[in-house]
Amino acid sequence: MPNTLVDELLNTHCLSRDGYRELLETLSDEDAQRLKIEAQRLCEQAYGRVVFRRGLVEFSNYCKNDCYYCGIRRSNAAVSRYRLSDDEILNCIKEGKALGFKSYVLQSGDDRHYTTKRMANLVAEIKALAPEASLTLSMGERSREFYQACFDAGCDRYLLRHETAKHCHYAKLHPKEMSLSSRLQCLEVIKSIGYQVGTGFMVGSPFQCYADLAEDLYFIQEFRPHMVGIGPFIAHHETKFADMPDGSVELTIRMIAILRIMHPKILLPATTALGTLDPDGREKAILAGANVLMPNLSPLRVREWYMIYDNKISTGDESAQLCTQLEERLRKINYRFAEDRGDSLM
Ligand code: 5AD
Repeated sequence: MPNTLVDELLNTHCLSRDGYRELLETLSDEDAQRLKIEAQRLCEQAYGRVVFRRGLVEFSNYCKNDCYYCGIRRSNAAVSRYRLSDDEILNCIKEGKALGFKSYVLQSGDDRHYTTKRMANLVAEIKALAPEASLTLSMGERSREFYQACFDAGCDRYLLRHETAKHCHYAKLHPKEMSLSSRLQCLEVIKSIGYQVGTGFMVGSPFQCYADLAEDLYFIQEFRPHMVGIGPFIAHHETKFADMPDGSVELTIRMIAILRIMHPKILLPATTALGTLDPDGREKAILAGANVLMPNLSPLRVREWYMIYDNKISTGDESAQLCTQLEERLRKINYRFAEDRGDSLM
């Protein structure tokens, strides 16, 4: 039986909430293949047959939050906590610069040790060191003043995954002091300041159903972020979801394809979580519309302590090695890294 929702999505690039739910519930392998092919075509049409490279610096694993799924949650006492100094962070950027990076992401737990003043200074220093590159921060929910000061200091982008767009599901993944409303409020502020904004969610997180994923798609349709990071949920042994099953790689890739069709000009990373569950997961994502990779530039000695889920890959290889490996993987699927910053066309 032909699935009219597939045609509707391909023709109109949007569906209703119920439409997305039904699409996800009924999608056959054959129709999923059609979506992936069209997603790749749309991505290539918008950006070319290239992938943008962002150098990731995981600069602190301290976190004041206690998200039930996350390996660096506050109550995990088994993690060695670390903070990189400004000089260590700048050294990562210098290394990235030598490797030709034109884009950096500074990511951490929600660590208030990094005050507004310190981050604004650090942003300015990084931009002075690498004015050719774009800079993204990903360090959680902060005040309007914080976001504004970092933007004024030269920061270009901010990533804050919404994690799940349904309030009741959000409440099952987070302790009661956290709320979807405050997350969404931050996203609005970040967008209104003028950042290129990234959000995202996990696929297959505990208690998630198709209606939740449909809500994620609908939220993104309305909010129109510049970038959406999605990856499968992967259990971490020191969390209360230790025994929960991992998310599905195939469903994650279907979600990527649908997002590309909804917003042909969006930026979609092929995430490390995909590469962790399936050695070819990131290539599969690129062939279904993803166009960003985020090689790790963090110092090797801290990599094992930024374990947000079990078996996270790329903990043992030098940044230069990681880049060569990824370049080789891209070459095999007839892709290459782009030379530019990779600003969103949205
Ligand atoms: N599995 C998959 N992704 C996770 N994240 C956190 N914990 C996990 C996990 N166990 C994701 C969240 C967060 C991002 C940095 O990593 O979506 O926003």
